[in-house]
Amino acid sequence: MSILIKGGRIIDPSQGIDEKGNILIENGKIKSFPKTAKKFEKDSKVKVIDAKGKVVSPGLVDIHVHLREPGFEHKETISSGCKSAAAGGFTSIVCMPNTNPVNDNASVTEYILLKARTEGIVNVYPIGAITKGEMGETLAQIGEMYEAGCVGVSDDGMPVMDSKVMRHAMEYVQAFDIPVISHAEDKNLSGTGVMNEGEVSTQLGLVGIPCASEDVMVSRDIMVAELTGARLHICHVSTAGSVRLIKAAKKRGVKVTAEVTPHHFILTDEAVNEYDTNAKMNPPLRGKKDRKAVIEGLKDGTLDAIATDHAPHSEDEKKVEFDLAPFGIVGLETALPLSLKLVEDGVLTLSQMISKLTDSPSKILNLGKGTLEIGCAADVVIFDPEKEITIERNKFHSKSKNSPFHGWSLKGLVEHTIVDGKVVYSA
Ligand code: DOR
Repeated sequence: MSILIKGGRIIDPSQGIDEKGNILIENGKIKSFPKTAKKFEKDSKVKVIDAKGKVVSPGLVDIHVHLREPGFEHKETISSGCKSAAAGGFTSIVCMPNTNPVNDNASVTEYILLKARTEGIVNVYPIGAITKGEMGETLAQIGEMYEAGCVGVSDDGMPVMDSKVMRHAMEYVQAFDIPVISHAEDKNLSGTGVMNEGEVSTQLGLVGIPCASEDVMVSRDIMVAELTGARLHICHVSTAGSVRLIKAAKKRGVKVTAEVTPHHFILTDEAVNEYDTNAKMNPPLRGKKDRKAVIEGLKDGTLDAIATDHAPHSEDEKKVEFDLAPFGIVGLETALPLSLKLVEDGVLTLSQMISKLTDSPSKILNLGKGTLEIGCAADVVIFDPEKEITIERNKFHSKSKNSPFHGWSLKGLVEHTIVDGKVVYSA
C-alpha cells in the first residue's frame, strides 16, 4: 500500500526543507514530493493522510535509550520500548548495553537485533559495552560487536574510571569509525551522592553529586580523544562546566559531539523537593545556572543532539526512600512536547529543534536516518505542534511510568509515526 501525506508543513533539516507540500511513500521508501494530491486521492491503492496544519518531519532519532532486555524485562522489553518510541514519534532508537547480561559480546548484540527485528516496530541500533561487564577493566569484544551491528561503544551508567582503559578503547574504535560514548562521571567525586550538590541538597539533607564530578571526566575524555584522534560523544550533558569544555574542544578541532536530555534543559534540582524519586537520575538535575548553560549550548551548537536517556524503572523500585531509589526516568513519550518548549521560548526555531532530534543525532552514529530524501526508508512523524496535551503517565506505552512530568500541560501531539512506509502508531 502506498501512502500520500497531504498538505502538511514538511520540515526536513537534512535537506533544508521547510514548506507546505505532499509526500508520496511507495514500497516503504520516500518516492516523491507530488505537486498536487488530486490524482492519488482517487486511487484506492493509496492511503491518504491529511496533514493540514500538522508538521511532517523525518521520524525522530533517539541515540540514548535503555531497553532493559535481556534481563530486566519487568522494567521494559524491546517490544514495549519500541511501542513507547513510536508513540513519542521516534522511528530509530539506540539502546545502551547495561542489560543482564551486559551487551559486551556479539551474541548479546545478535539477540537484541533478532528481538528487535521480530518484535520491535521501530529501528533499533545497539551500543556495545566498552569493557567486559561494564566493569571498567578489560576491553569488551568491540570488533565482534561492531561486525554484529553495534554502532558505538559505551559503559553508560558506569563511567570508565581508568584513563588507560579509555585510551585503549579510543585507539581501538578508530578501526571501525565508531565513537566512544562517554557517561562522564568521576565515581569517587560522586561518592554516595543521590542528587545535585547545592542549596537544595543541603535543605533536603541528601548527599550531593558535585558538578565537578561530570566536568572532571568530560575534561579527561576530551584530553584522551585529543591524544588518540578518536571520535568522542558525551552523553547527557548537565553542567555549565561541561558545555564550556566541549565548546573549547570543538573550537580546537577535537572530534567531540554531545547530547542533552529534555529533563536537563527543562528542570532544575528544585524538582527533587518533596523527595520525588521520579526526579532522581544520573547525572542529576542541576541548578539554574547549569540549566541556562545547557540551553545556551543547544542554541550555539555546542550540544548537537537531544536524547532522552529513557531509563525505565518499575513502580516498586521507585516507591522507596530517595536514597534507595534507582537513578533514571522514562523519556520517549515526553521528549517532543518538552523540546517544543525550546521553540516556544525562542531558543531554537522549529527546524533547528527537529534537527537536534533527527539528522544531527543520526550523523553522530552514522545511522543514515533522520532524512526525507527521495529513495530513503520512509521513516516519518506527523505531529501537531499546537495541540494542547496533558502528560498522563498511565497512558504511556512504556512498561514503566517513572516520569516527573505526569500531569503537565504541554503542546505537541504525535499524530502518526511511520517506519519503512508502515504506520506503526496513530493517536
Ligand atoms: O539515570 C540514569 N539511569 N542514568 C544512567 O546513566 C543509567 C540509567 C539507567 O540505566 O537506569
